[in-house]
Amino acid sequence: MFSKYKKPDTRTPVAKAAPKEAPKPKEGTAAAPAPASLRKASQVAAKAGPADKEIKRKERLFEIKVELHKQLLDNLNLSALESATEAELRQEISAIALESLAEMNVVLNREERQTLTQDLYDEVTGLGPLEPLLQDETVNDILVNGPQQIFVEREGKLELSDITFKDEKHLLRIIDKIVSAVGRRVDESNPYVDARLKDGSRFNAMVPPVAVDGSLVSIRKFKKDKLGIDDLVDFGAFTEEMAAYLQAAVATRLNVIVSGGTGSGKTTTLNALSSFIDNNERILTIEDTAELQLQQTHVGRMESRPPNVEGKGEVSPRDCLKNALRMRPDRIIVGETRGEEVIDMLQAMNTGHDGSMTTIHANSARDGVSRLENMIAMAGIEMPLKAVRSQISSAVNLIVQASRLQDGSRRMTSITEITGMEGDVISMQEIFRFQRVGLTPENKIIGHFTATGVRSHFSERFKMWGYDLPASIFEPTKMG
Ligand SMILES: Nc1ncnc2c1ncn2[C@@H]1O[C@H](COP(=O)(O)OP(=O)(O)OP(=O)(O)O)[C@@H](O)[C@H]1O
Ligand SMILES: [Mg+2]
Repeated sequence: MFSKYKKPDTRTPVAKAAPKEAPKPKEGTAAAPAPASLRKASQVAAKAGPADKEIKRKERLFEIKVELHKQLLDNLNLSALESATEAELRQEISAIALESLAEMNVVLNREERQTLTQDLYDEVTGLGPLEPLLQDETVNDILVNGPQQIFVEREGKLELSDITFKDEKHLLRIIDKIVSAVGRRVDESNPYVDARLKDGSRFNAMVPPVAVDGSLVSIRKFKKDKLGIDDLVDFGAFTEEMAAYLQAAVATRLNVIVSGGTGSGKTTTLNALSSFIDNNERILTIEDTAELQLQQTHVGRMESRPPNVEGKGEVSPRDCLKNALRMRPDRIIVGETRGEEVIDMLQAMNTGHDGSMTTIHANSARDGVSRLENMIAMAGIEMPLKAVRSQISSAVNLIVQASRLQDGSRRMTSITEITGMEGDVISMQEIFRFQRVGLTPENKIIGHFTATGVRSHFSERFKMWGYDLPASIFEPTKMG
């Protein structure tokens, strides 16, 4: 029954290699484009047919651009960049480019020259070598380990890119540019920073000496079109049956926690779940970096803020949450609960803001509950463990586990209900899970989703709210 969801090939979210992406070096072409390779490319172009010629021309232009960008970085006075006007900078770039083109013996027509100068301008004023990766829609994450090593994540898999920075100074300049644009500073005494890029991407950087081998940068690309429920079902992240159950859970205002490891798809899941919220409700979202994209009309978004260089001006997630409670929300969505805000989150869930949602870092539903307990203890709340647990069990109804499996696929590996307390222990029951069976020779995970056969604790509630789910949804999948 679930075989239709085992579509490893159809999980590819976007078409491979956007046209703007760097062309893979052709056989016999040096990896780092140099003038020699430019000539080679132009010779090939001369022999090719008209369609081929067009592609080759684009590739050649790209190679020229990379080479010129390198030369620009050598020739431009980078520290003077900040004070230059746009017109001055364009003129300067155009002049250096013309000179270099002449040196390289490359003749371009007027249109090509204009495109080239525009691209170069974007590179100099944008994020340099990172710019093509930011433009490449197949890239999810960009991870920089010092100037010479940039990894990217495509379709769940990390791969080393052939893009590099000129040196640590170049990398630092780009980091500084990003960070200063959001009014922060990063240096030896302030060695790490979180920021949001103009396009909404999440950015984190740590600079030497704390970063030992050169600056570390991580970028989680912002997706304009977040994956929706249908996409996730199509990619095999969960089944239609699970989606129907989740719809009932969200629509009937259960409090939901999405649990998972780093990059496991928590925010994506949270965002997709939010689509089940009625459009009439007033939703307030609180995040460290605004990533959620809610479809509803009535949404208030908040972004917490770390302290500035002088240690002032902090607005913690807890501050936002406390304030949110005074803003008459129907639901509160907290991007991630990781600290003392847990107290207010649980209280909100317990006191009239049911239907609230958040994510936590944990590897299973049980582990998630322990995390919540720890967070409460760390927040300095002196409460007997039993009272803490009872608070959690009455606040949280559902824990949805997101996982990034070893083949790079992201799946909802478990949906677990919290049903109350048994003595000192929080009782839970798993309703759906991903049953792993094996591994293909290509290291793709073989498995299927199944219901556990347990009847939902919330069946009556679902029915009362008009979500009469067919019993078949809760029947375990029979394989082969
Ligand atoms: N089921 C899926 N199939 C394919 N790609 C997915 C899936 N779920 C999430 N992604 C992609 O994986 C990346 C990480 O997802 P997301 O930001 O939701 O993870 P996260 O758990 O919130 O990460 P973090 O711990 O860093 O906050 C995103 O680029 C997202 O588009
Ligand atoms: Mg996230």
